[in-house]
Amino acid sequence: PRPIRIALLGCGTVGGEVVRLLTEQAGELAARVGAPLELAGIAVRRPDKHPELPPQLLTPDPAKLIESDADVVVELIGGIEPVRDWLLAALHKGKSVVTANKALLAECSGELSEAADSSGADLYFEAAVAGAIPLLRPLRESLAGDRITRVMGIVNGTTNYILSAMDSTGAGYAETLDEASRLGYAEADPTADVDGYDAASKAAILASLAFHSRVTVADVHREGIAGVSSSDILAAQKIGRVVKLLAICERVTAEEGAESVSARVHPVMIPRAHQLAGVGGAFNAVYVEADAAGELMFYGQGAGGAPTASAVLGDLVTVARNRVLAGRGPRESAHAALPIRPMGQT
Ligand code: HSE
Repeated sequence: PRPIRIALLGCGTVGGEVVRLLTEQAGELAARVGAPLELAGIAVRRPDKHPELPPQLLTPDPAKLIESDADVVVELIGGIEPVRDWLLAALHKGKSVVTANKALLAECSGELSEAADSSGADLYFEAAVAGAIPLLRPLRESLAGDRITRVMGIVNGTTNYILSAMDSTGAGYAETLDEASRLGYAEADPTADVDGYDAASKAAILASLAFHSRVTVADVHREGIAGVSSSDILAAQKIGRVVKLLAICERVTAEEGAESVSARVHPVMIPRAHQLAGVGGAFNAVYVEADAAGELMFYGQGAGGAPTASAVLGDLVTVARNRVLAGRGPRESAHAALPIRPMGQT
């Protein structure tokens, strides 16, 4: 069958892992999709800085790749402009889009969804929130028949690492942030994480999906962790609590019955017995409450090259398979699977 051609925009830590997995797992992925996945090109700012990538695939011009014959665009560049225009152009052309760009989605997911709907293209973005954790697909698909009332959790690994370290060492905020930067847990410019912008973007995406609404980052009340002192941590410890930066998205019903959506990010003192209290290091965890399903909890690695690439690849397989099933190439058996070993055999 005709291969599904992929334009990769951006090839940093996550993109490098995506290329590695596409290459190393090519056979298995082709069997799952029903057609081979083939890189049509990789847009990077400085092609000369990527000796590890096939030179014939590299271009410094993302717009050129959007214009190419690629079926799917995988965007890992980040930021709003000019990425927004590129992805709108791709969707209008009927190309499927997989993106990890939380800032873009938190600003204009409505516009991107409309472009996807108008051309029948797919738009998937599992990697934009909570890295490897399958969270957006359950909100968007598995729980589509339920009524979600609350989504609440730890969606920023950097601040969770800092707060956890302050809790265990008793050290102050500035000192712990310096240590986190030194160890590579915090970015060179940690502003987006520590001031809560990163978590607020994720809250906007979660609230939009959970409540079928269009929540943007401007709608999210935001407070970061820079104001959390060692005496706050100590005060929390004295009453059996721990400080966590939470994103909280809720369906709110007013007295007269009118419903609205509330989304906020701020530090919260939670009881040590609460399941979110035990989430340490750079991990993420999210609670979801729905009328029929009850309480659900999602937990795992919320950042990092390989975990985030796992989410990108999952989306890529889904959109590629959708294209094959939509008749853009015959489907080979998806069951070219591993042989089954009888029990007891080693
Ligand atoms: N800076 C983010 C974090 C990366 O610390 O969680 C994942 O979005």
